[in-house]
Amino acid sequence: MANITVCARFRPLSSKERRDHGDSVCIERIDDEAFNLKDEKEGEMKFSFDKVFYDDSKQDDVYSFLARPIVRDVVNAINGTIITYGQTGAGKTYSMEGPSILECDDAKKGLLARVVAGIFREISSADSIKYTIKLSMVRLYLSKDNMQIKKTKSQGISLPEVTEISLSDIAEALQSLSSGICNRAVGETQMNVGSSRSHCIYIFSVHQESTIQKRTFGKLILVDLAGSEKVEKTGAEGRVLEEAKTINKSLSALGNVVHALTCGPNGKGNHIPYRNSKLTRILQDSLGGNSQMALLCCCSPSPSNASETLSTLRFGARAKHIKASPRVHSTKDKHAKTLRTSFPSKDESCDKVADKSRESMDAEDVKLLQDLFTSEGRVHDPNFLTDSELDCGEAAAATNIPLQRAEEELASAVELVSQDSRLHSSAYFPLFLWPHDDSTSFYCDRKSDVVTENRVTDSF
Ligand SMILES: Nc1ncnc2c1ncn2[C@@H]1O[C@H](COP(=O)(O)OP(=O)(O)O)[C@@H](O)[C@H]1O
Ligand SMILES: [Mg+2]
Repeated sequence: MANITVCARFRPLSSKERRDHGDSVCIERIDDEAFNLKDEKEGEMKFSFDKVFYDDSKQDDVYSFLARPIVRDVVNAINGTIITYGQTGAGKTYSMEGPSILECDDAKKGLLARVVAGIFREISSADSIKYTIKLSMVRLYLSKDNMQIKKTKSQGISLPEVTEISLSDIAEALQSLSSGICNRAVGETQMNVGSSRSHCIYIFSVHQESTIQKRTFGKLILVDLAGSEKVEKTGAEGRVLEEAKTINKSLSALGNVVHALTCGPNGKGNHIPYRNSKLTRILQDSLGGNSQMALLCCCSPSPSNASETLSTLRFGARAKHIKASPRVHSTKDKHAKTLRTSFPSKDESCDKVADKSRESMDAEDVKLLQDLFTSEGRVHDPNFLTDSELDCGEAAAATNIPLQRAEEELASAVELVSQDSRLHSSAYFPLFLWPHDDSTSFYCDRKSDVVTENRVTDSF
């Protein structure tokens, strides 16, 4: 198991920061991997990361160090995840998208455009293998949607309702990304006039069919997180305040997952609260699972943002302890090289049972059923697992059999209840499906429950 890659990036001072504080900065460069941070309250602290990109760094430096190795591996069916994290206005979207996906000079292109070019470059050099590349985009906004998230053994986490489109070349991929990005909600705060108000998740899957008839695929997930922010500093009110609270909540859920993954007995055996937010659930495989992962901590170098920069860097330093266990994904090779046990953990089984129920039941009913199974001793509550249980593969395997029975029983109960609830429930609208089919995308305005259908122009 290897630790994830964590880098820090400092953007140049903004004109507002220069106006307010001149050229002063809160960091002092030591080398390409370390720097000192000066914070008024906490004094001077040294931070080290796999790489530090200072304000003179190039977009290509970030891609080459952080993303290129992951892109190479995804073509060889090893999953990868790249996340930009940090305060609003710290440079997450700039690092991910650059100033624009379609119209920007080569040097300023962000990770997305470089990843696309990287994937197509890698597959063009593999003569004997046929590849299919697909893209889906998910925008998590206010996290109140009931988007379905599934976890299966062969596919890992998947989003069954989000349509994937096939990409035949770089131009088509960039056009698709650009159209999707246009739909992203943007709000105005005092921190950043173009700050994004949603988490944006880009999922590339690279499927290969080799001559020996073994199909394999790798998934590359890029996540441009919405920024964390102090509401008193941003002056957020009303809807923007509501957004800020939700963003901060899902980022705390991410922090809690990272905390659980890196604390406790050897960092394993803890209950990991992936289910506490859509964001962490979607990233379940990426965070400490079957994926290589790189985290880019984006920061402002201004003394006025030192405390936010400090909390971003502390998050990165904590995340550095996460261990990942990437493995080759193959549809035929059931015993793929893996460092994990070959049966689902109790936590995964519990998740599976709950997932099945959520397809058609209210959260409260699902919780009741889970409690019922737990009290009946049919499903272990992962919160109460002991270390020795977790370390003992045979015990876990034995538990798996009653779990499967419980799941079957639950599935028939769910079917009965759902027949009933279908009669009463209102229509289901995912918050963001992009694109829904070859020509449409849907955006649901939750407040009014009005679904607006956007015709996407000729690119589809
Ligand atoms: N490395 C960088 N070089 C030049 N400008 C940058 C850099 N990083 C960010 N910026 C600028 O700073 C502003 C805020 O960046 P942005 O990426 O939108 O922040 P975030 O997504 O973290 O909220 C934008 O105007 C962006 O162009
Ligand atoms: Mg942004």
